[in-house]
Amino acid sequence: MKHMKLLWAAAALALTSVGVLAQDDPFADVVETRHGLMMQMASDLGKMGAMVKGTTAYDATVAGKAAANVAAVASVISMDNFPAGSENGKAADSFAKAEIWSNNADFLGKLADLNTAAGALKDSAGKDADTMKTAFMAVGKACSACHEAYRQPQAQ
Ligand code: HEC
Repeated sequence: MKHMKLLWAAAALALTSVGVLAQDDPFADVVETRHGLMMQMASDLGKMGAMVKGTTAYDATVAGKAAANVAAVASVISMDNFPAGSENGKAADSFAKAEIWSNNADFLGKLADLNTAAGALKDSAGKDADTMKTAFMAVGKACSACHEAYRQPQAQ
């Protein structure tokens, strides 16, 4: 009997979570938007990354534009993209950790670090490949520093 009760409780809980995640998710738009912002930065960073690796030739115009995009997008991101409660497990498709809110000053510090690094990349990407590379590596570090602390690793 005790076991049956537990099973029912588990089933009810599972149904509730499915309902929240699939239908009544108030965070669907906000999660989609922040994913879009992140993907835009990843796409522009990828263009410069290919030049750093040497898989594409350095092109000052393309690099300059990509770097300006990363700086612009980074400057748009704020806590408006991370409303309270929109974390992994509560908002569908989100890999955001709850520590974003419980450790908010540090999270915002990491966002500020990204903006600083992206500003430097914007100033240097159009100059030459070596100057771009140094600033590019710093931006990559700023991305990872925040992901390591605040993004749930995705199951592969
Ligand atoms: C201040 C913290 C922070 C910084 C800095 C940051 N990210 Fe993110 N990023 C996140 C969080 C949190 C998520 C998970 C969001 C979610 O799933 O709700 C994420 C998710 C992503 C994703 C996955 C998007 C998807 O569709 O699942 C990509 C790609 C990404 N970030 C790229 C970048 C790149 C590139 C940079 C640097 C230019 C960067 N991020 C900088 C916090 C950050």
